[in-house]
Amino acid sequence: MKLLITGASGSIGRVLRDGLAGQYELMRLTDLAPPPRSAARGEECVGFDITDLDAATAACAGIDCVVHLAGIPLEPKENAWEQLLPANIVGCYNMFEASRRSGVRRFIFASSNHVVGFYRREVIVDTDVLPRPDSLYGAGKVFGEALGRLYADKHGMSVACLRIGSFRPAPEDRRQLATWVSAEDTVQLIKRCIDAPSFHFFVVYGVSNNEGTFWTNRGVEWLGYEPHSCGDDYAERFASHPPEDALEGMFHGGGYCAQGFDGDPSLID
Ligand SMILES: NC(=O)c1ccc[n+]([C@@H]2O[C@H](COP(=O)([O-])OP(=O)(O)OC[C@H]3O[C@@H](n4cnc5c(N)ncnc54)[C@H](O)[C@@H]3O)[C@@H](O)[C@H]2O)c1
Repeated sequence: MKLLITGASGSIGRVLRDGLAGQYELMRLTDLAPPPRSAARGEECVGFDITDLDAATAACAGIDCVVHLAGIPLEPKENAWEQLLPANIVGCYNMFEASRRSGVRRFIFASSNHVVGFYRREVIVDTDVLPRPDSLYGAGKVFGEALGRLYADKHGMSVACLRIGSFRPAPEDRRQLATWVSAEDTVQLIKRCIDAPSFHFFVVYGVSNNEGTFWTNRGVEWLGYEPHSCGDDYAERFASHPPEDALEGMFHGGGYCAQGFDGDPSLID
């Protein structure tokens, strides 16, 4: 198995590189930013910008599976659209299309929980629900998932979309007790997607084994993802913290829903 990882110099990419080290014939580590250390045996470090389709196509040559992490990992506070358009929309299309042109058979897409951010907290959603993005960032990830469906159905690519929760060393606020995903669980999830014998298209939540989770992977048990970390182990840290802001506490997406909100919460069922 020859892997290409985009965004390999980023926070998830660095953890993934370490977690998968030595397990595949090749890991081609790609990013705009330099790698934290030079290539070891079985690794290649390749710098390119995912907004450049020709460079992306060349980088995908000979690759079996792309893990696409590169992009802006949050809703920018200013000029969100101008920043998200090249990296998360054009760049995402380029990586799917470069993969098709280069004959890549499997594509693992780092989507986000913000695809379903406007579901209410009391509703636990599965992987089949309609999208309810809470931000332009979340809407961009919906576009990426739609591309995944397209490339699976039209081009026979195996596509996994990972709705990643809050990837942090530990939960940083009350919401993240429910949304946290540890490094160990993230590596396990991505490795299971790389190693799964065959699939067409699926969505899975990248979340640890948190008691108060908003999401269920019912229907995706076949993947064998068994998270071991638990956000609730950190609950004590937030015991004396004030409760979340009313609007933030209403919906899955928390602060992403509240940012720039001028709608009517009573209309959001
Ligand atoms: N961290 C989280 O909690 C979280 C949650 C949900 C989804 N995700 C998604 O996972 C992915 C990785 O997140 P992360 O936290 O590691 O982010 P990160 O910002 O640490 O890493 C992203 C990497 O992408 C690279 N990049 C950005 N634009 C690029 C371009 N045009 N060409 C090439 N490389 C480019 C950056 O240099 C960076 O190293 C992102 O797509 C993000 O949306 C992350």
